[in-house]
Amino acid sequence: MLPAVRTSHPIASQCCRLAAIALLSGWLCACSGSGAGLDSSGQPLSGSSSGGTIALSADFDAIQANVFTPICSVCHAGATAPQGLMLDASHSYDLLVGIPSTEVPGILRVKPGDPSNSYIIQKLEGHAAVGAQMPLGETPLPASTIAFIVQWITDGAQRGTPASTMVARFRVAAMAPENGDVLAVAPALIVVGFTRALDATRADTAAVRLERIDDAPGAATAIAVAIQASVSTANPRALLLTPRSRLPAGHYQVVLSGLPGAALSAIDGELMIAAPADANGDRIIARFTVAATP
Ligand code: HEC
Repeated sequence: MLPAVRTSHPIASQCCRLAAIALLSGWLCACSGSGAGLDSSGQPLSGSSSGGTIALSADFDAIQANVFTPICSVCHAGATAPQGLMLDASHSYDLLVGIPSTEVPGILRVKPGDPSNSYIIQKLEGHAAVGAQMPLGETPLPASTIAFIVQWITDGAQRGTPASTMVARFRVAAMAPENGDVLAVAPALIVVGFTRALDATRADTAAVRLERIDDAPGAATAIAVAIQASVSTANPRALLLTPRSRLPAGHYQVVLSGLPGAALSAIDGELMIAAPADANGDRIIARFTVAATP
């Protein structure tokens, strides 16, 4: 069930996969009815091939290995990830914890300590205000599996290995949208996850800019787009950029300032001024395209 080539070309394989899932969903139901292909906790056996042998528990790494990677990232990956939510191991934490839902922006996808006000639980239990129960078109997760995710959120929605990420070099860890993405729908929110907690007082539009690239023949120009910048209070590593109006079709870039007086800072004072990309020290961390709607 789990495609081994998932990382080869997310856009092309996504369409095929969605079609295949739609066609096979009837077969999948028949399959789970007999218990074939499921382990003792009701999980597809394919989960163990990607997740190693970590048993499911109320711990982020275990939930990633047993649920998000094998079941959810089949759809929630790459530029076509529904609602910009990528649930593969390198993105899921930064796009879940403390990040507003796209469907219901007043609710966080994961609100540490508060599972009933965490959108992911509403989606898994099937009573969210918008859209369908997850995993879409498949057998809902067993209640025992959802209970582990509820417990992880109740316990504060910690990262799997806080000790190792605390000493990490200050850099960008994950983004949505990602560099090179071509999006069919303009993102309502851009998320930049860092390896360390940010100094929220410096997370402003001097430190980070969204620019529209107008590549008229001859001279490419970058025009600043009005955004609001803030750090998620529930996930101090996540920088949230909200365009003030819907982004029209075009090419965009996210730029971090390299000026010491303006640059983002980690909570311990380290500045985001490494690896400058141009004379000002500014660094383009991603370019993406919003496709024209047909
Ligand atoms: C077959 C493809 C598919 C699978 C598998 C899938 N999803 Fe989704 N998911 C979608 C689509 C499409 C949407 C948007 C439409 C909707 O909500 O019904 C969505 C929306 C969501 C949202 C709302 C995001 C937001 O910001 O508002 C969450 C949360 C979510 N999914 C979680 C999950 C989780 C957790 C899993 C695994 C247990 C999962 N999904 C598996 C296709 C899928």
